[in-house]
Amino acid sequence: MCGIVGYIGDRKAFPILVNGLKRLEYRGYDSSGVALAQDGEIAVYKKQGMVVAMEEHALANNTSGSTGIAHTRWATHGQPSDENAHPHVSNSGNLVLVHNGIIENYQSLKDLLKGKGYTFHSETDTEVLVNFIEYVQKEEGCKLRKAVRLALTQVIGAYAVCIYDKNRPEEIVVAKLGSPLVIGLGVNEKFVGSDATPFLEYTKDAIYLEDGEMACLTAEGEVSIRMIESDVSVDPTIHALQMDLESIEKGGYDYFMMKEIYEQPRAIYDTFRGRLLPEQGMIKMSGLEEYADKFRNADRIIMTACGTSWHSALVAEYLFEEFARIPVEVEYGSEFRYRNPIIRKNDIVIAISQSGETADTLAAIKMAKAAGAMVFGICNVPGSTISRETHAGAYTHAGPEIGVASTKAFTSQVTVLTMMALELGKIRGEFSTSEYRALINELSVIPKKVEKVLESKEHIEKISGLYKDASNALYLGRGVNFPIALEGALKLKEISYIHAEGYPAAEMKHGPIALIDENMPVVVVAPNNGHYEKLVSNVQEVKAREGKVIAIVTEGDTEVINSADHVIEIPETLEALTPLLTVIPLQLLSYYIAVMRGCDVDRPRNLAKSVTVE
Ligand code: M6R
Repeated sequence: MCGIVGYIGDRKAFPILVNGLKRLEYRGYDSSGVALAQDGEIAVYKKQGMVVAMEEHALANNTSGSTGIAHTRWATHGQPSDENAHPHVSNSGNLVLVHNGIIENYQSLKDLLKGKGYTFHSETDTEVLVNFIEYVQKEEGCKLRKAVRLALTQVIGAYAVCIYDKNRPEEIVVAKLGSPLVIGLGVNEKFVGSDATPFLEYTKDAIYLEDGEMACLTAEGEVSIRMIESDVSVDPTIHALQMDLESIEKGGYDYFMMKEIYEQPRAIYDTFRGRLLPEQGMIKMSGLEEYADKFRNADRIIMTACGTSWHSALVAEYLFEEFARIPVEVEYGSEFRYRNPIIRKNDIVIAISQSGETADTLAAIKMAKAAGAMVFGICNVPGSTISRETHAGAYTHAGPEIGVASTKAFTSQVTVLTMMALELGKIRGEFSTSEYRALINELSVIPKKVEKVLESKEHIEKISGLYKDASNALYLGRGVNFPIALEGALKLKEISYIHAEGYPAAEMKHGPIALIDENMPVVVVAPNNGHYEKLVSNVQEVKAREGKVIAIVTEGDTEVINSADHVIEIPETLEALTPLLTVIPLQLLSYYIAVMRGCDVDRPRNLAKSVTVE
């Protein structure tokens, strides 16, 4: 939530900052702003709405500075407005700051500052923070770096901050606790970003600041990192970025979401490449091998995640229990962290997160670690906080996912989790070599089958046209496709704002059936597997109440096709792998419906890609 960018060097900062903000808009798009050091002053331009609105406003003015900081906001304290947009300037006019996170004790700090005569022009916690730093600086008579450090030791909450003093624009100070912050190292220039995308075209050398660290950046000097609490110096680790520019651009698609839906065959393939070895009949996952004994002897696996990643955990619950015969519990990060869960020494916690930054998942990990559990992370963003906080893990190799609605990250997570379930089944001696090999072989051809599903695009677009004005929708599935029903419903509601609910198909009779009438579209995930006959009956129950059935079926279906209003076919595959195919039509359905309703698919209202506040 919220994206921050910074630049110090010899180029014009403004274009770098604005392009960086546009790449970080997935993190929030309520308002944006920049502050530039020019002519001994701080020029601040901010506007409610998308970055482009602020850009136009700024370009009508002077944007010549070569030190600057910028921000795109997902509102927490105070509604979206020009006043609440960052950057925020301190009362003296000397300090300017951008912030991603939440200062929980901002009210008490604000009261203290008010008592000292400070005034406020916004409702934000950030304006409190910049003034608190100024207050500390005045009290201590110290340099900005020390003032930031001392102030942050008194702050409760989460932050990534970027601040400079108009009288010393040759230095930017950054600090991090709980929200991400990356420093890009150029020749005679430094960059700052909430992720590395703002500076990809300038440098591939980056330092990921760790929690509790701060750094002083000058254009030419070394980056000096110190711990906020202890002031102890830390040696920076420089990472070589693997990302390229092409992977974060739309490549001719109208929306990132569609590009990412279409990238799924490649994303799934990249995720199993080098790990799934069908010729040798084996799976090799280094993170798993390292902890093979722990997994072999595990009594229970707890999976924790949020949103779509939680749905991939639910899919995995079926697969792990089926193949590895390990009891699995799936927990929302937000619930797990605030319960007093029983974690035993032979439990393993698997945390799943596309961004690797989700605050609730991260807090759940910390809690599990503190309780002595081994924590295994599944993340898509290399170097993200969760990937660093976990003992071991496996990356999904989906590539950057920019659309707020998660698509390729989901299928990549399911791919990793499927491989894990198979491998654990083997390690624990739970299934036959022939079954194991059959699953490996079939997984290796799933990318081709996803391509086949994508060929139904036009058919799905037509169906979407018929239901774009619906007010509600039901999604039903059974077994491993019940989580796919949940995921389909989430996709529809988050990007088209149609109320949708996912249910295990059998639960329909226990309540939701009362909602069904001729206006209710019911999406039934009904591939030809162990639950097929029961789903045929569920479809008939919906039809008996005049509901409209859109069914996802296997090619060659003979029964659902007779009663459903529309069918969308997927190729035949093994039951355990059907989620990787059945979810694709549901993604396309929600995409087309949202586009037809005039929604901004990549930036749905009130949402942000990376939820770094709880
Ligand atoms: O980055 P994460 O996977 O941890 O994010 C979790 C959720 O915020 C995310 O999946 C969210 O539900 C998506 N918008 C769903 O499309």
